[in-house]
Amino acid sequence: MKKVLIVFGTRPEAIKMSPVVKAFQKENLYFETRVCVTAQHREMLDQVLDFFDITPYYDLDLMKPNQNLYSLTGDIINGLKPVLEEFVPDVVLVHGDTTTSAATALAAFYAGSKVGHVEAGLRTYNKLAPFPEEINRQLTGRIADYHFAPTEKSKSNLLMEQIAEESILVTGNTVIDALFESVERVKDNIDNDLINSLEKIVGDHEIVLVTGHRRENFGDGFLNICAALKEIALNFNGKVIYPVHLNPNVQKPVHDILGDVDNIKLIDPLPYEGFVWMMNRSKIIITDSGGVQEEAPSLGKPVLVMRETTERPEAVDAGTVILVGADKNKISSEAIDLIKDSDRYKRMSALHNPYGDGKAAERIVNFFK
Ligand code: UD1
Ligand code: UDP
Repeated sequence: MKKVLIVFGTRPEAIKMSPVVKAFQKENLYFETRVCVTAQHREMLDQVLDFFDITPYYDLDLMKPNQNLYSLTGDIINGLKPVLEEFVPDVVLVHGDTTTSAATALAAFYAGSKVGHVEAGLRTYNKLAPFPEEINRQLTGRIADYHFAPTEKSKSNLLMEQIAEESILVTGNTVIDALFESVERVKDNIDNDLINSLEKIVGDHEIVLVTGHRRENFGDGFLNICAALKEIALNFNGKVIYPVHLNPNVQKPVHDILGDVDNIKLIDPLPYEGFVWMMNRSKIIITDSGGVQEEAPSLGKPVLVMRETTERPEAVDAGTVILVGADKNKISSEAIDLIKDSDRYKRMSALHNPYGDGKAAERIVNFFK
């Protein structure tokens, strides 16, 4: 029986690794599977663990208020040492591009375990954007023995970097597995208290949904973003709904600048099923999130991405996503134009699903069987 350790720490990793955890746990004749959370995030991680009903075997409980990259990286490596020494996994699975992913891959390499990288091969080839995620993902890819690429494009990046073809499997993105499960569960559970409370917030208004948290947008970037959102709110009869990321570098400018604008509603980060419901209910989405860029095309929602570049070009090519940077005028003019120009809106809201068919986790498990 193979011993598999699945490690994650932040909200998006948890959402995208939950289907993988479930798929390995189902195959308990082949695998002994344990979940370790670094808890790089705490509340936002716990929301996801609750929704997918996952109880970690190990919880390093590392999050500190306004933590920094140096101590977080060290704490993850040190925290994983006893876990790796006790369980001695054959393979450690990590996800994506966070500090948890890169530090865990390094610790697993030190321990002599094989490393599998889920969501491998995305690249901007600009080491400052996204920062520090581009380098986290490249480092993890260097260390990994197995690469689960979501798309052919991400596979071709890995091949260009001389990664052996037999170690790469194109799986689709596990976020689509998670998204499909969430959409089904919300449908099956129409008396859900959370959804009822969200319905009260949105009423019959048109909704612009916003998220933002990228480090390279801290400071002036967030000031511009908030000014753009104010401008949009002033030119729009509907409501701007913004579940604000708990990072204090985001909370402060957003609450200071947007706290008293009538038709902007700032709320706490939503549990996954609530956020998926809100995406479905929105007219457009304005975000700098990686995961949201992948989910929105499947839901037929146009997305303005507040970044200069993206490691997820597929939805830009499909026409659902436009890059607007953290440029005040670009964000507000593109949003207002999309709200008003119904032909353009229709073209951008055509359904696209470049990121998978909901069977990515199953493919990853079968690879190890
Ligand atoms: C992290 C990841 C980023 C990912 C993002 C997803 C790194 C370097 N950054 O960024 O790649 O896109 O998560 O959201 O790995 N906080 C809370 N409660 C929480 C979560 C965060 O209070 O549940 C606050 C804490 O003060 C914490 C701070 O946010 O110290 C920053 O968290 P951190 O994980 O370091 O950075 P993120 O900006 O969340
Ligand atoms: N999300 C959520 N609640 C929210 C906002 C986002 O559950 O209030 C989900 C979203 O559906 C996506 C993921 O969180 O799957 C994206 O996380 P985030 O933007 O924090 O990180 P990134 O994807 O940019 O790494």
